[in-house]
Amino acid sequence: MRSYFIAGNWKMHKTVGETVSLINELKNSLKGVSHKVLVAPPFTALDAAVKAAEGSNILVGAQNMSNKESGAHTGEVSVVMLKDLGVGCVILGHSERRIIYKESDAFINEKVKLALVHGLEVILCVGETLEEREAGKAETVVNEQLEKGLSGISEDKLPRITIAYEPVWAIGTGKTATPEDADEIHASARKKIAALYSQAAADAMLIQYGGSVKPDNAKELMAMDNIDGALVGGAALDSASFTAIARFDS
Ligand code: PGA
Repeated sequence: MRSYFIAGNWKMHKTVGETVSLINELKNSLKGVSHKVLVAPPFTALDAAVKAAEGSNILVGAQNMSNKESGAHTGEVSVVMLKDLGVGCVILGHSERRIIYKESDAFINEKVKLALVHGLEVILCVGETLEEREAGKAETVVNEQLEKGLSGISEDKLPRITIAYEPVWAIGTGKTATPEDADEIHASARKKIAALYSQAAADAMLIQYGGSVKPDNAKELMAMDNIDGALVGGAALDSASFTAIARFDS
C-alpha cells in the first residue's frame, strides 16, 4: 500500500522571517496528519526552516542542488551543504530548471545520483509541454525523462525517490490536468518503472501530481488510483490553502 506525500515548492518566495511564520502556522494546522508533508523553501531560508520545523511532522527539502560535491562552481549549493543544514530531501528536474536554466536529463541524472549517494531523498520532476501534449507525445516525453533521470540507479535506491508528474502547461496557469488525464500519465509512468525495474518497484513508487493543485481539486486528484500525492507551488505559500490540500482526506 502506498501512502500519500504532499510537498510544497515555495520557489523564489519567502524571506527567513516569512518562512518561520509560515512553518509555525503549519506546525499547528498540520498536527496529526499521518502521511508525509514537506516544504521546500529557498536556500536562504533552509537553515531557519529546519530549525522551525524541528519536533514536528513537517519535513524540509531544497528546490535544487549542484551536480558537484564541491569546487569552483560560483553560485551553486552542494549536497554536502544541504545535509549540513539537516535538509533531508531535494526537488530535482523541475520544469523551471529544465526550461529556464536549460538543465538536461543527463545533468539532472548526475544530481539524482549524487543526492542518493549522500542519502538525501529525491523528488524527480517530469512533465511535457503544451506543444508536446498537443502532438500526442506526453507519455513518450515523460517516459523518456524517467528513463534518463533514473539511468544508472539501482532498484534498492528507488524507495528514496518520488516522481512528480508536472505537465508544464498546468504549472502556475490555473489549468489543472483532469484527474483522469493525470492518472493516465501516472499509470504509464508506473508501467515504465515496471519495465525499467520490476512490478514490485512500480507498485511501491510514489508518483505526485503537480500543476495548479488547489484546495478545491486536491481531493479528486488524490482519489485516482495512480496519484499518490501532490507537488504544490502557488497554493503552498499560504497556510490555509496548503493545510487544506495536505488535509484533503480529513
Ligand atoms: P503551481 O506549481 O502549483 O503553482 O502550478 C507547481 C510546481 O511548479 O511545482
